[in-house]
This record gives sequence, C-alpha cells and structure tokens, in this order.
Amino acid sequence: MAEKLATLSFSDGTPSIDFPVLTGSVGPDVIDVRALYAKTGKFTYDPGFMSTASCRSNITYIDGDQGILQYRGYPIEQIAEDCSFLEVAYLIMNGELPNQKQLGEFVDIVTHHTMVHEQLMRFYSGFRRDAHPMAVLCGVVGALSAFYHDSINIHDARSREISAFRLIAKLPTITAMTYKYTTGQPFMYPKNALSYVDNFLYMMFGTPCEEYKPNPTLSRAMDRILILHADHEQNASTSTVRLAGSTGANPFACISAGIASLWGPAHGGANEAVLKMLAEIEDAKNIPAFIKRVKDKDGHAMLMGFGHRVYKNYDPRAKIIQKTCHEVLEELDLKDDKLFKLAMALEKVALEDEYFVKRKLYPNVDFYSGIVYKALGIPVAMFTAIFALARTVGWIAQWNELISDPDQKIGRPRQLFTGAARREFVPMAKRK
Ligand code: SDX
Repeated sequence: MAEKLATLSFSDGTPSIDFPVLTGSVGPDVIDVRALYAKTGKFTYDPGFMSTASCRSNITYIDGDQGILQYRGYPIEQIAEDCSFLEVAYLIMNGELPNQKQLGEFVDIVTHHTMVHEQLMRFYSGFRRDAHPMAVLCGVVGALSAFYHDSINIHDARSREISAFRLIAKLPTITAMTYKYTTGQPFMYPKNALSYVDNFLYMMFGTPCEEYKPNPTLSRAMDRILILHADHEQNASTSTVRLAGSTGANPFACISAGIASLWGPAHGGANEAVLKMLAEIEDAKNIPAFIKRVKDKDGHAMLMGFGHRVYKNYDPRAKIIQKTCHEVLEELDLKDDKLFKLAMALEKVALEDEYFVKRKLYPNVDFYSGIVYKALGIPVAMFTAIFALARTVGWIAQWNELISDPDQKIGRPRQLFTGAARREFVPMAKRK
C-alpha cells in the first residue's frame, strides 16, 4: 500500500510539502512533522500539546470519545475486576499478563526489596512535621539515586530492571514513612508476609504496640484504586518523566520529577482538591451557588475532579471508583456518608447543567477516589502521594520504553518568540 501523506500548503506562494502519515495499531493517525523545520524553517505551535503525539508507545491506549482505557490491550474494567496490582504492574512493565510462576517470581522480587537504606530515614528529620507529603516524597525519592549507585546505568537493561523493582517495592515504604513522620509515630518496617497492599496499609496504620488486622474488602478497594491509577499514557507527569529521562537522568531523579509534576491541582493534586472543595460546599443546599461561581469563572473556582484533556465522555476509572466507593462505605457501615452523598448530588447537578454538557466535562479518576481514601482513614494531604505510589509503575514502564526507543532524542521544544528584538545595552547612568 502506498505511504499515506499529508500535504502542507502555504498562502504566500511557498511550494507545498508532503509529510508521512503514521498509522498506529488503533487510534488516530499522526502526521510525522519531524522534517518540517529542516524543509521550511518553520515550527509547529501547540502549547499544551493539544494536537501533538510526543512519542510512540505500546503501553496504554485511551479512546477519549468512547471512554475506553486499555493497559496493553486489556480493558480497564476487566483488569480492575480480575487482577491484583502487582499482576497489573507485571503486565504494564512486560507487555503480557504473567502466568502463575512468573507472577510468583515477580511478587517475590518486589517483596524482597521493600526495605529502604537505614540512612534514608534520617532524611525525614530534615523536614518540618507539617510539610506537605508530596514535598517530602519528591525529596526522598530523588534521594534514592544517592543510595543505589549500582542501578543507575540507564544503558544496561538489567540495571534498569533493578531500579524498576526498587522503585515499585520501596514506594509504599517511603509513602507510609512520609505519613508516619507527619504524625510523629515510629516508622514501621515492612512485613514481607503481607501482600503489597496489606503491607502498605500495615506500614501506614500499624504501630509497634498493636497488631494491625487487614480488612479484605478495604485491601481489595485499595488494590483496585492502585490498578486504576497505574498508567495513563502521556499525561503531564508521565511526559515529565519522559522529558527528564530524555536527558539521560537516572530513573530515581526522573520519577522524582514525575512526582513534582503530579502534585499540581490540575493533575494528581485534584484528588486532594476535590475533598477541600466538598468541605467548602459543605451542604447540598450550597451546590447551586458553587456551580454558579464555577460558571461565572469567579475567583478561579473550578469543579475539581471534573474534566479531562482526553476523555470527552465519562472517565471509565471514575465509574469503577464510584462502585468501589459504594462497597467500601457499605463495609464500613457509612452508607449515609455525607461527603459521598454530597459528591453524588454535585455530580448530578453538573451532568445536567448546560455549561458542563457543552464542554463535555465529566467526573475523572480523582472525583471519587478521595472519598474512598478518606473512608479508609487516609488523611487528605496523603491522597496525591498514593496516586504517585500507583503511577510509579506506569512512569517506570514509560521511562524504560523511552530509553529503548531508537527514535529517542533529548526533548527540546522550540518557541514562538514574542520578546524584544536586538537592542543596544543602556548603561545605568543613561536609564530613565
Ligand atoms: C488527572 O491527562 C491525564 O491523563 C491525567 C490523569 C491521569 O491519570 O494521569 O487522568 C489524571 O490529572 C485528572 C484531571 C484532574 N484535574 C482536575 O480534576 C482539575 C479540574 N479539571 C480541569 O482543570 C481540566 O478539566 C483539566 C486540566 C483536567 C483538562 O484541561 P484542558 O483539557 O486543558 O481543558 P480546558 O482547561 O481548556 O477546559 C476547556 C473548557 C474551559 O472553558 P472555556 O474557556 O472554553 O469557557 O472547560 C472548562 C474550562 O474553563 N473547564 C472547567 C473544568 N474543566 C474544564 N470548568 C469548570 N470546572 C472544571 N473542572
């Protein structure tokens, strides 16, 4: 079949130019404009990457109009129902679902890398107790590169694999330590007899004085939430990890950059912002006034947990989390939970309001996740840290894919310059 081409023509008489059109396995074609500057001396202008594919990827596929999300081809609904988080981590990292033996080995390796270097614990005391957990997480994860020198040769596949295991295994320990530090309680060493999620909950809520008993329904809910957050193609934090990785930076530094990027309220920080918003609305009777403020764009008020760059239909993860939310509240006998009711009422109002309908704004992954976290006893400031814990799997898989990609180059966008053209320096004495 003849190569598909896209023709760019100019209104000023410059001859038109053809560009190859690349076709993926599913999803929109992309126009390969890499030669544009060399051929025309012009750049494309696309702030926010509205129409730009920054890379090739085999990992996650989203169809935003249909509300479809697939990890390595498997629909998120099936994965969330039938898999464990580490099974999903294996899938995302390796491309295929593991068989029993492969999963056993994978779980074993992760389980045996959960401890952190004892000296890393001292880092925490350098932070204020009231520091935001994401600030601590950025610092401590970045610091891992100072401890694990033996796995930062990015050109060695085995070294990359060891770093990947270290990050996936240690993130729950580091995240739980971050929480313990804010409460003033002692850090809990990981217990390798526990599953990945139970171990995390144990390190969060266990103390040396009392036995922590995992609740299977709550563990399953947390496991499912981690699955739903594990990867999401080229979102802002993943793109940050890729950009940092394109310079040859070590994996711990790249993941730390991803954590910083995730923190923003337009991205992963939205889960925390949703709970703050619900607390501010307080009562269903205040919803109309809040919605009015959002629509009037008054004081930057936004309906947090709503809207998505890619999903112009319901985020499939939000549907699953809403169901999980029901299960958790039922288990904890919190069926009449005020926040959940308020969130559902707010969702209903927004879904019927012309402003949101016209702009195709639906609940995203962050709208209901915070209510589940809160019901599990996790403090609001820790929400985004848990997102980071889960997303580490996606980040590390995407970073690995980047390093192995023959098309990979340092990420270096250009600009449309609108500042002053060349002018002569004015000495201080002559300045007005
Ligand atoms: C995540 O990309 C990913 O995949 C991210 C993520 C992942 O798994 O990695 O899915 C996780 O980050 C989820 C998103 C969490 N953020 C929020 O919930 C914050 C609230 N949402 C918005 O900030 C916003 O919807 C974004 C950032 C999510 C998307 O921004 P876009 O695509 O740049 O859209 P936009 O800001 O240009 O909005 C288009 C219009 C605007 O109105 P007009 O100027 O055309 O009149 O919709 C309005 C916006 O003002 N709008 C909202 C709104 N979201 C968009 N208005 C009110 N409330 C909102 N939440």
